[in-house]
Amino acid sequence: MEFKGRDIISLKDFSREEINFVLEISQSMESVAKTGSDLLRSKILATLFFESSTRTRLSFESAMHRLGGSSIGFAEAEIASVKKGENLADTMRVVESYADVIVVRHPLEGAARLAAEFASVPVINGGSGAEEHPTQALLDLYTIAKEKGSIDGLNVALVGDLRYGRTVHSLAYALSLCKVKLFFISPEILRMRREVSEVIKEKIKVIEKSSLEEVISDIDVLYVTRIQKERFPDAAEYAKVKGSYRVDLELLEKAKEDMIVLHPLPRVDEIAPEVDETIHARYFQQVWNGIVVRMALLALILGKIE
Ligand code: NCD
Repeated sequence: MEFKGRDIISLKDFSREEINFVLEISQSMESVAKTGSDLLRSKILATLFFESSTRTRLSFESAMHRLGGSSIGFAEAEIASVKKGENLADTMRVVESYADVIVVRHPLEGAARLAAEFASVPVINGGSGAEEHPTQALLDLYTIAKEKGSIDGLNVALVGDLRYGRTVHSLAYALSLCKVKLFFISPEILRMRREVSEVIKEKIKVIEKSSLEEVISDIDVLYVTRIQKERFPDAAEYAKVKGSYRVDLELLEKAKEDMIVLHPLPRVDEIAPEVDETIHARYFQQVWNGIVVRMALLALILGKIE
C-alpha cells in the first residue's frame, strides 16, 4: 500500500483496506507515543490554519514532536500574509520550501484540494469548510475499533448537524465501506447533504430520523455533533435548531449498556456534563487516539513506514 507522498484530502479516496492499514499502524504507535521516537527526525510539519482549532492543530504538532520532527505554522489567517492579499496557491508554493508535509484548515470547501494541487509536498486536509475532515474520521474509526473490537456489525448513529458538520461527512464515507447499519439523526433542515447521502445509500442501509429517542435502544455507537452555528447563513435559521439534541442521563437509561458516546469536540450543550462520568463516554479518549492516528499518517506519508 502506497502512502508515501500522498495527499489526504477526502475519505472518498480511501479503500477499506487502506483504512484498515492506517488503523493498524496507529495501533503500533500507542507505545511509541508514550516513549517518543526519532523516526521523523529533521522532518518539518507546517500547520496552516485559516480557521480556529484546538485539537486538530495541536494534535498534529504533538504527533510530529513525538516522532522527533518539528513543526511551524500559524493558527489564524489574521497574522499570515493572506491578510495582505496573498492567495492560497502562492501561500502553498512558498510553504512547500519550508516543510516536508503541510496540514491546511480552511473555511472554504475545495480549499484543501486546491492547496494540494499547488504544493509539491503532501497536503493533509485539516478541515475544509463544511465539506470534510478526513483525519478526524480516521481517529473516530480507530476509537470505534479499539472500543468495540471491530467496526463491522455495529449500529452507528450520527446525530446533530449532518448538513454543516464536516466530520460526519468523512465518517459516513468511511462507514459506508464497513458492514454497519447507519442512522442519520438530525432536524429536518440539517439532514445529511444529498451529495453525501447518495454515495452512502448506494453501499449500505441508512435510516434517517429526527427523533433520537425512537432509535436510542438499538444503537452501539452514538456519534454526537455540535450544531455548526458559524456556518449558518442567518441567525434565525440557527435559532430554530439550536439545542435540538441533548444527550443526558435520562436518555442514556434507554441505551444499551455497552453503547459508546463519541463527539469530535468542541461540545456546546449537546452532551450534558453528567454524561462524562458514565460508562458510555469516550469523547476524551478520542483525543488521545487523535495523536496516534496522526503519528501513523505522518510516518506513512513521509515514507518512514511502508
Ligand atoms: C470539529 C471540526 O473542526 O470540524 N472539530 C475537530 O476538529 N475536532 C468539530 C466541530 O467544530 O464541531
